Amino acid sequence: MMVKILQLFLLLSALLLCANHASSAPSESNDDHSGEEKSMYCQRNKEDANECSIYLPPANNPTLTLRNGVQLPLFSLGLAHFTFGAPHVGSNKTFVGFYPSKSFRQIELALQKGIRSFDTALMYGTQPHLGQVLGQWWASGRLKSREDVFLTTKVFHKPAPKFGLKRNHQWNLDDMTPEQVAIQTEDHIEQCLQELQVGYIDLLLMHWPSGEGQEEGISRQRRLAAWKVFEDFYQRGWVRAIGVSNFCERHMDQLMQDGATIRPMVNQIESSPYLQYESIVSYCRDHEIQAHAYSPMGSGLMNVQNDAVLQQLGKAHQKDVGQVVFRYLIQKGYAIAFQTNSPERMVSNLDVLDFELDEEEMKAIYGLIRVNGSFGLPSPHDLP
Ligand SMILES: NC(=O)c1ccc[n+]([C@@H]2O[C@H](COP(=O)([O-])OP(=O)(O)OC[C@H]3O[C@@H](n4cnc5c(N)ncnc54)[C@H](OP(=O)(O)O)[C@@H]3O)[C@@H](O)[C@H]2O)c1
Repeated sequence: MMVKILQLFLLLSALLLCANHASSAPSESNDDHSGEEKSMYCQRNKEDANECSIYLPPANNPTLTLRNGVQLPLFSLGLAHFTFGAPHVGSNKTFVGFYPSKSFRQIELALQKGIRSFDTALMYGTQPHLGQVLGQWWASGRLKSREDVFLTTKVFHKPAPKFGLKRNHQWNLDDMTPEQVAIQTEDHIEQCLQELQVGYIDLLLMHWPSGEGQEEGISRQRRLAAWKVFEDFYQRGWVRAIGVSNFCERHMDQLMQDGATIRPMVNQIESSPYLQYESIVSYCRDHEIQAHAYSPMGSGLMNVQNDAVLQQLGKAHQKDVGQVVFRYLIQKGYAIAFQTNSPERMVSNLDVLDFELDEEEMKAIYGLIRVNGSFGLPSPHDLP
């Protein structure tokens, strides 16, 4: 009898040991999201159990080839979470910055949904979140190598005095000499590298050409000073591609006239059904600068999702409005930086490769452009 009890005890211990091992050992499998890993995740996060059924492999996200051969993913998930006027960071109504609760969660969910390309900026305050969540994915083996992700970030900002800690008051570029701008730009790029902790940056953008109301001559010199630092980081391999954002033709021309040795490879600009900077995009096309659209859904502030024309086109193609917008932009030649916190949209917004808008449909969307089509940002043409 004693022997039988002992045998039973040993059997139970062995079974328990196996079960523990299964739930604590990192998966050796090449399959990133083995069933074991999924069920562990579901047990830990019971409220998210329905999300586990769509723990997806890397999304089909084709790339565009930049002038230096770097492959820019067509879609990047934006990580700008601002608290302007919205007291979502606990009950602290005076804080202006990012939403930590949204951004950690968004990055984790996005990776689960197969997104591997992210668009952040020093100003957004979300680089550390991205670095930390990616680190966990590498640590657990769910991501294998640095090449599994594509990271875009930005420095050099127009005056945005509400943002940042005291040491970052230099967001406001007014009153800085080109020499000071160069030192600050170097510091800021190094800060990006430290916050991201991913080795190198895939695409570094100059966030804004200048602030409104600055004097044109000095703005021009500041841009060049910052760009020279960009070139240096590029040449030293810390950055795989360099570009600009919110630049118009004049800003790009001036950069080259003033002594840039590398032409920007990307220009990221606001672009939605209600706003198109045609002349900038055409300049980019002529100079092999990849146009990158941001705020494709009007930042959620323009009611794009309820537009009757877009809804009708969606119905005709059995797609939702977001998919029609994204298809429109890629047919116009853009890569896209979009933002969503919805796990469904992290998948559906990329699901636009199986249909095409014809010429008439493209024209119908183009016809939606409005005089005040921006959700509130200045036109690049108005910046000195
Ligand atoms: N370079 C620059 O100066 C600059 C400036 C602004 C933004 N950006 C970049 O661009 C990214 C995106 O910009 P954004 O957030 O301003 O604009 P956005 O992508 O146009 O808008 C985001 C809003 O649209 C909603 N949305 C997303 N997909 C949708 C769909 N399929 N149907 C209906 N609604 C949808 C989102 O709500 P849900 O969360 O509910 O889906 C969210 O409220 C930023 O995160 C940032 O990385 C760059």
